[in-house]
Amino acid sequence: MKDESSKIMPPSPSQAVKKDAIDLKAEEERVVQGLINRGFLSMEEVARCIPDGSKGGAGYLQRVQAAGLVTAGQFERLKADLQLLSGQQIPGYVMMEKLGQGAMGVVYKARQIRLDRLVAIKILRGKLASDPDSFVRLEREARLAAKLSHNNIIQAIDVGIAGKLKYFVMELIQGKTIQEEMKAGKARYPEKQAVEIILQIAQALEHANKRGLVHRDIKPANIVLTGEGVAKLADLGMARENTDVELIKKEQGMIIGTPYYIAPEQVRGEPDIDTRADIYSLGATLYHMVVGSPPFEGESVMQVLKAHESEELQPPDHIIKELSSGIGEVVEMMMAKSREDRYRTASELIIDLECLLNGEPPKLARKKISASLAGLSQGEEEEAAQAVAELPNWVYICFAVLGGGLVLSLAANMVLALKK
Ligand SMILES: Nc1ncnc2c1ncn2[C@@H]1O[C@H](COP(=O)(O)OP(=O)(O)O)[C@@H](O)[C@H]1O
Ligand SMILES: [Mg+2]
Repeated sequence: MKDESSKIMPPSPSQAVKKDAIDLKAEEERVVQGLINRGFLSMEEVARCIPDGSKGGAGYLQRVQAAGLVTAGQFERLKADLQLLSGQQIPGYVMMEKLGQGAMGVVYKARQIRLDRLVAIKILRGKLASDPDSFVRLEREARLAAKLSHNNIIQAIDVGIAGKLKYFVMELIQGKTIQEEMKAGKARYPEKQAVEIILQIAQALEHANKRGLVHRDIKPANIVLTGEGVAKLADLGMARENTDVELIKKEQGMIIGTPYYIAPEQVRGEPDIDTRADIYSLGATLYHMVVGSPPFEGESVMQVLKAHESEELQPPDHIIKELSSGIGEVVEMMMAKSREDRYRTASELIIDLECLLNGEPPKLARKKISASLAGLSQGEEEEAAQAVAELPNWVYICFAVLGGGLVLSLAANMVLALKK
């Protein structure tokens, strides 16, 4: 096979050392980021290192020392490490501030130098960074995201490894997650706003599901809201294609999801998880948004998981009186214990969410309730008949005696009346 790499000519010595202003600036930014990542500098301290004409990574290190932010010993060690500091970055991108973090990675804002645009980069964190399996997962996440193209799903850009960094580049969403907003003091979302957000994520799910994909980790921390009120579904790290037989086998019996929002069938580690599990988790998310706390809480993860499986759900409108009964019905249907009783698809859910936004009763949830009420009253009659059929013989005997007594006393009364 022809060696393609041999076509690339190595730079001449003069080219190799000559760095233009853009390179120097980029190198400086990499060193700044490296120093922040290593905990040497905070953002405020970065602002204190005022430019003095010195350029590049080495120049920046001098300024850090001049500002008294590192000791002489630290300075010497950092100087020795300069190559690594300015090199341990992702080619083509300049890392900027941290945006957030999850169980798998830390997400940074970054500038894609060639296209001169801002992006977000997830970098695998901690032990995951050195686990060879984790890159397989990250790459799968990126590839699944790349199959999707929807305004309410974060778009994939690239995935790769640079030195020790395993990264996934994606569209940058300037905003906050629902979880961040709630942590920052938003106790509850007004019903209309919550439904508008959940509707957008239902549309994202409809798109993903039509392409055979289940997200499996729908929760407030994986929904980013832009300033314009657009909701974006993030983190396909747990997502699975329903054609991925190998992964389905590998994950058999594993509990995949986040305890507060996980569907009962995921708790049981069932293999054939489908879009109805996402609908359940989206229901739990909607519940949390309008009630201000997750549907089930407990002392331990096990307790919460058990509650999803068997504890009765208190409808949100029974807890927060301002909520409509409609939203209560929709959440109940989304979070039905048995997936047979949930919306079958995101498209069905969208119908009811739109009803709520139009101030109408939710068509499908209402129909379901009427059907189950009808079933219940029919069931009650059958139950009563069954109960009668199962009465012990002596009960009939008592009735017969009582009945006989009644007839006798009635007859006696009639006789008495006639006599009068
Ligand atoms: N594209 C993005 N734009 C802006 N912030 C993001 C983006 N993706 C993720 N984040 C932030 O980073 C956090 C972690 O990202 P996530 O993909 O959920 O990582 P993990 O797989 O570790 O859970 C999110 O909760 C959010 O705050
Ligand atoms: Mg996440």
